[in-house]
Amino acid sequence: MLRHLISGAMLCLVASASGFVPRAAPGVDESFSLYAYGDSVGGLSIFYADGKAFVGDPSNSTSSSAIPVSFERSSSSSSSKWIANPNTTSSTDNTDNTDRWSNKMLYIPSSSSSSHQMGFTSKAESNETTTGFIFYGQWVMIETESGDISSSFYVKASSEGEGVYSLLWNVTDDDSAIPISLRSVKPSNS
Ligand SMILES: *[C@@H]1O[C@H](CO)[C@@H](O)[C@H](O)[C@H]1NC(C)=O
Ligand SMILES: *[C@@H]1O[C@H](CO)[C@@H](O)[C@H](O)[C@H]1NC(C)=O
Ligand SMILES: *[C@@H]1O[C@H](CO)[C@@H](O)[C@H](O)[C@H]1NC(C)=O
Ligand SMILES: *[C@@H]1O[C@H](CO)[C@@H](O)[C@H](O)[C@H]1NC(C)=O
Repeated sequence: MLRHLISGAMLCLVASASGFVPRAAPGVDESFSLYAYGDSVGGLSIFYADGKAFVGDPSNSTSSSAIPVSFERSSSSSSSKWIANPNTTSSTDNTDNTDRWSNKMLYIPSSSSSSHQMGFTSKAESNETTTGFIFYGQWVMIETESGDISSSFYVKASSEGEGVYSLLWNVTDDDSAIPISLRSVKPSNS
């Protein structure tokens, strides 16, 4: 009887453990894209416009610099930076893009910043944090210097185009912001 209970419990443990085993994160030096998932946001890809991070279809953006991006990381440690580049092989590449750039770091606003907007920079100001990005499986998290891990990502409808959202960090004071998770996995319907 006891043996049955134990093996049943073991089975449960094994089953639930395997249910939680995260799928593999993109490898170091492997190019990946990031997608936002949340209530009414079913895997919209991150794009660049005017130095800021948005999600949605870049071709719907009113910005002339809107372009899809892909990322690479040089190591899996939280001190490594995530480097963005225009995803030029993408079919939605904006050919009359006026703002050519390469190798910009993804940042979240530092706690000293009054902004919530995430973005891309070549040279981070003290109000922009470019380290701490880590994967848990295919989920993006932020590890702070004190070792806390959080994933306080949000999106908010932007006036810069239909279905275009600003990508935000740590929004505590705005009911119109939608909490999202950022993942490297592409939505299955696209
Ligand atoms: C980047 O380009 C690759 C190859 O064309 C494509 O599979 C991927 O969906 C693109 N990512 C984004 C975010 O557009
Ligand atoms: C950081 O400061 C610069 C200069 O004041 C400003 O232009 C930029 O928007 C700020 N970034 C954030 C994330 O607060
Ligand atoms: C892009 O805009 C068109 C109309 O201008 C709209 O029908 C479409 O849903 C938008 N795309 C996204 C991804 O929201
Ligand atoms: C989030 O914002 C609050 C203030 O609104 C700040 O105290 C906290 O440190 C921030 N957390 C992160 C992880 O940035």
